[in-house]
Amino acid sequence: MPQFPPGFAWGVATAAYQIEGAVAEDGRTDSVWDTFCRQPGVIRDGQTGDVAADHYHRWPEDVAMMADLGISAYRFSVGWPRVQPGGTGGPNPAGLDFYDRLTDALLAAGIKPMPTLFHWDLPQPLEDAGGWLSRDTAGRFADYAALAAGRLADRIDTWITLNEPFIVMAFGYALGMHAPGKALMLGALPTAHHQLLGHGLATAALRASGVRRVMLTNNYSPIWPASDSPGDRAAAAAWDTLQNRLFTDPVIAGSYPDLSAFGLDADGLDLIKDGDLACISVPLDGLGVNYYMPTRVSALADAPLPFQMEPIPGYPLTAFGWPVIPAGLTELLVQLRDRYGDRLPPVYITENGCSVADEPAADGSIDDQFRIDYLDGHIRAVAAAMAAGVDVRGYLTWTMMNNFEWSEGYHQRFGLVHVDFETQRRTPKSSFAWYRGLIAAQRNGAAGR
Ligand code: BGC
Repeated sequence: MPQFPPGFAWGVATAAYQIEGAVAEDGRTDSVWDTFCRQPGVIRDGQTGDVAADHYHRWPEDVAMMADLGISAYRFSVGWPRVQPGGTGGPNPAGLDFYDRLTDALLAAGIKPMPTLFHWDLPQPLEDAGGWLSRDTAGRFADYAALAAGRLADRIDTWITLNEPFIVMAFGYALGMHAPGKALMLGALPTAHHQLLGHGLATAALRASGVRRVMLTNNYSPIWPASDSPGDRAAAAAWDTLQNRLFTDPVIAGSYPDLSAFGLDADGLDLIKDGDLACISVPLDGLGVNYYMPTRVSALADAPLPFQMEPIPGYPLTAFGWPVIPAGLTELLVQLRDRYGDRLPPVYITENGCSVADEPAADGSIDDQFRIDYLDGHIRAVAAAMAAGVDVRGYLTWTMMNNFEWSEGYHQRFGLVHVDFETQRRTPKSSFAWYRGLIAAQRNGAAGR
């Protein structure tokens, strides 16, 4: 394993609804995910995040495990409906207390907290008022950001506004596979602008609260055409625009990409008001990159969206059926640098990991060599991008412990730590020991040996 520079952040990432549970405690009210999970048939086996990994109660044990792991950074998300139930009005002190205690415990363990303000748990009343289809939600998000930072910015200097706004738009509002379950196809597009505006307004609110470093996390994927045909190449370019550029060009370059493949003229969209792009493109201090796999697409005629996804044969598959292609991470990092040049802020890998079937052996141990190989390959892929000149400052794996994996319920296991969801017993897997060893070797400057 190559030696990474001193100060490179090694960490793990999680999200509130996926681990906390305690959905009706201490004043928290419903988010769109609470509501969505109650609908029959939308989540595998009807599972919900009601209890999840019970992190809301077991956080001291979880922070102790993180300290044992030796990480220097922990990316968690702040639950909007915990901190500001209903999404309007004043803060919920009990909700803020939870993140306050967590922050202090992390700092005491030498771990830098990196909160994400929105990891998909929109307060339900805001969805009822239009959700991200409504411009007003952007302003509400900035108000909430100010409440969270008002309590925590004295101890936390790096904040992430949104997690994967593309997935919110695509899965939540275009295809209906995630909360709030709307299938509007291209009608979901306003959620892009309103999330980006929310990012811009929240950035200003965070800075006004004394926050020094603000980041945005997107889910990136190199897009591969299924063939060399002009149709498939155009389909790949169209998908690339939606996933890799729609949520990045406005922030880094200050303009929307060409949306003519969808019959749209972004500049002509009347939902973009004077001043919006200036607000959205205030320089970022870091770009969060989440990477799982490349995407292969072919053209699809006479359909609302001009492309379809194709399988990528010839690679190992995770338990989720996702192909393992570490080189795709190098490719996308180099592509980001080539696309944005000097304007690309320092990059942090804010998520990367895989789902592995992980039933304990008779002696209770869990050997997830598949995950070790996955992480090893992807960390080397980050090193390759750095050797090619991309400024990467940290790697945070997804995820600390098994959790509620959205539509898949508890069936996909992405954790370094196994959770028995009956007893909430935590058992570190072999990947935990491997990652601990890697971090220690990096810290001691012994990695290259
Ligand atoms: C999300 C996580 C999710 C992971 C694995 C990312 O899209 O940010 O919340 O668990 O992928 O599916």
